[in-house]
Amino acid sequence: MSETDAVVDAAADVVIIGAGAAGLMCAATAAYRGRKVVVIDHAPKPGRKILAAGGGRCNFTNRDVSIENYLSQNPHFAISALKRFSQYDFIELAERHGIDYKERELGQLFCVGSSSEILDMLLTECEWAGVELKLDTRIEKVAYLGEESDNSGFTLETSGGKVVTTSLVIATGGLTLPEAGATPFGYELAKQFGLGVVAPTPGLVPLTLQPHDLKVVEKLSGIALRVEIATEGRAFRENMLFTHRGLSGPAVLQISNYWKPGQAITVNLFPDLDLLELLKDARDKRPKVELTAVLAAHLTKRVSHALCKLWGFEDTMASFSNDTLEEIAISFTAWRLTPSGTEGYRKAEVTLGGIDTAALSSKTMEAKKAPGLYAIGEAVDITGWLGGYNLQWAWSSGYCAGLFV
Ligand code: FDA
Repeated sequence: MSETDAVVDAAADVVIIGAGAAGLMCAATAAYRGRKVVVIDHAPKPGRKILAAGGGRCNFTNRDVSIENYLSQNPHFAISALKRFSQYDFIELAERHGIDYKERELGQLFCVGSSSEILDMLLTECEWAGVELKLDTRIEKVAYLGEESDNSGFTLETSGGKVVTTSLVIATGGLTLPEAGATPFGYELAKQFGLGVVAPTPGLVPLTLQPHDLKVVEKLSGIALRVEIATEGRAFRENMLFTHRGLSGPAVLQISNYWKPGQAITVNLFPDLDLLELLKDARDKRPKVELTAVLAAHLTKRVSHALCKLWGFEDTMASFSNDTLEEIAISFTAWRLTPSGTEGYRKAEVTLGGIDTAALSSKTMEAKKAPGLYAIGEAVDITGWLGGYNLQWAWSSGYCAGLFV
């Protein structure tokens, strides 16, 4: 026994840091190949974000997944992994485990029961494959096993002892939900081994408004409307929710991924009809009716009243000229707001940015300059839209790395 062996508490072929969606998928895949796999997580329980996903029903993937649904400095990086382990592969796995699911709007697939079925499935796969889970374990230091960067593996000093491994996988996720165990540890580790990190920021996050806009919006808090929101050439047509701090709901979370501080967003409150036509028709057929009443049928009374007051359109339909009707239509279909910021990591679903894909192989997820080191899931600079895309990236990237670690 060498001196190093004498102080080693565990030796593995693969150590995965993070027992979340990507880490568990990678672990089972590698262990089925006969690799000795240890997953280390500092949290007392695995998969906290899987449990929180989809409001407890886990929107585990989407029927239609394409590169269009992802943001990154290089979105094309994700193509290979998403093809190798696609949404259909995950659906097949879920079906094999008897998980009942249903499709909601925009191809989103949710559990009929609860998110825990997805986590249980992954833990069962890990158990069948022989993965060892070390929870409640802090990692204090990581270093190359050898003095030089000679691909001889890594040594980890943890609160549970010293572990040596040939392959090390960063699966520590992003910075959202700090109370559920999120840390920047993965980014720091990546930097330690010379990998670049694209500055992380909150994604899929509610937007806050400037005081003058908030004065109007906070009174509408709790009301949701179908809208189209656009910024810088991107548009999403889904529900928007007024809140005490600003705007939320699926449409807002989607656009938040593309919004940059200082930019305006444009809200079309009538995305599915020709508002000018509707207004002219109402003037012809119901001239004595107030504009607020005409719009209330689509917007709710409170929203219609608040916005007509804000823009000074408080009169009967007969009193409006063609030019004013055009002005009204523009106000309601191109409402420009400049958010003051976002609600931050506490309310965000994902983290934009992360470990630079330029440092990784898109086929194996291995670091080009640090052989034996891999990065998967949300820790990497690949961020999906709302709708099951982020978990699909976790499954796909985890599976791909699992084939090579
Ligand atoms: P994940 O965050 O799942 O796992 C990372 C693990 O690393 C955690 O267990 C953490 O404890 C551990 N870790 C972190 N630092 C560590 C350290 N220093 N030492 C040891 N361990 C460490 N996506 C989707 O597609 N559909 C959905 O319905 C939802 N819903 C949703 C709701 C909410 C509230 C949130 C916050 C997020 C979502 N998401 C989602 C996003 C999705 O949950 C997320 O993208 C994936 O869980 C990412 O998987 P990872 O395995 O990369 O990280």
